[in-house]
Amino acid sequence: MRVLGIESSCDETACAVVELTDGEPAGSCRMLSNVVHGQVEVHARYGGVVPELASRAHIRNIHPVMTEALRNAGVTPERIDCVAVTAGPGLIGGLLTGMAAAKGFALAMGLPLVGVHHMEGHLMSPFLDPGAEGMDFPFVALLVSGGHTLLLHARGFGDYRILGRTRDDAVGEAFDKGARLLGLGYPGGPAIAALAQGGDRRGIHFPRAMPGREQLDCSFSGLKTALRTFLGQHADRHGDPAWRRDVAASYQEAIVEVLAVKSLAACRLTGERRLVVAGGVGANQRLREMLLERAEAQGIRVWFPPLSLCTDNGAMIALAGLRRLRMGQRADWDLNVRARWSVEQIG
Ligand code: KG4
Ligand code: ZN
Repeated sequence: MRVLGIESSCDETACAVVELTDGEPAGSCRMLSNVVHGQVEVHARYGGVVPELASRAHIRNIHPVMTEALRNAGVTPERIDCVAVTAGPGLIGGLLTGMAAAKGFALAMGLPLVGVHHMEGHLMSPFLDPGAEGMDFPFVALLVSGGHTLLLHARGFGDYRILGRTRDDAVGEAFDKGARLLGLGYPGGPAIAALAQGGDRRGIHFPRAMPGREQLDCSFSGLKTALRTFLGQHADRHGDPAWRRDVAASYQEAIVEVLAVKSLAACRLTGERRLVVAGGVGANQRLREMLLERAEAQGIRVWFPPLSLCTDNGAMIALAGLRRLRMGQRADWDLNVRARWSVEQIG
């Protein structure tokens, strides 16, 4: 069975063809193609995603991206069995573009349509990694991107509980806003990570907002304010490259440490020994290093899907859609998109 997966909830227009061979997902599905068209150049000068510009870019890109996904997979539309599309949560203009394209394709080809929750898609990403041997439910998931900061208990497919979330900025935003304060480009995460290379992680103490060890919410707006204040107090040093490296390394360390402490507390609280990290911030090397080191000491195994599967993509949507289809779910033609949609209420 082959599924076309379409994702357009934020600033990536993505489409993939995934084939399910047999049995349950781990090791039993194959990505035939995975095309992602990002929009960094559209949003860079604004320092963050501009929804209206994102919608226009999705409209421009959706058809070429779908065509390329089919071509790369080496299949014609007749060889597709089902269409899965992100139905929410996300930016409404982008979601509508993906939904219209998915409905058009499914109607024209007489195929079932499945609406997918974007976060359930992310939870499927480790199952797409051929190297993810031993991966299965249940697990704790840390979903960290420009728009989301969530700790989830994934007890089984479709059975998710939110353990913690950010009370203000998403982690990716903390990187992006910090980068702007430091005069770096967008996206800020990779820029801060690059500047932090060789810097002293303990050079400057930035606050770690941790409301109680076992409380799993986090907060990043205080940290951003602390950086702004600190930079204001040291205006004379802004041109000092070594000092800037220390600032970036210390700022990154504060963010990463909060994520590591909370993720491992979530594993302890739930008794889970598997932790999955997904989302663009999952690319952060220091986060990977710290989590692996601390998790190993506690007998917890951590999965970082490859970066192409950590960030938004159509393959994760295809796999989630496939599993939903196998549960007997298929959408009616009046399926609508939802800007807000809790992962605890997928149904
Ligand atoms: O998942 P993603 O590609 O897009 C969505 O937001 O959905 O995540 C983008 C975010 C941006 O905020 C970017 O700064 C951050 O991920 N990011 C990183 C790194 N690479 C990307 N943050 C920290 N370190 C990185 N290496
Ligand atoms: Zn995402």
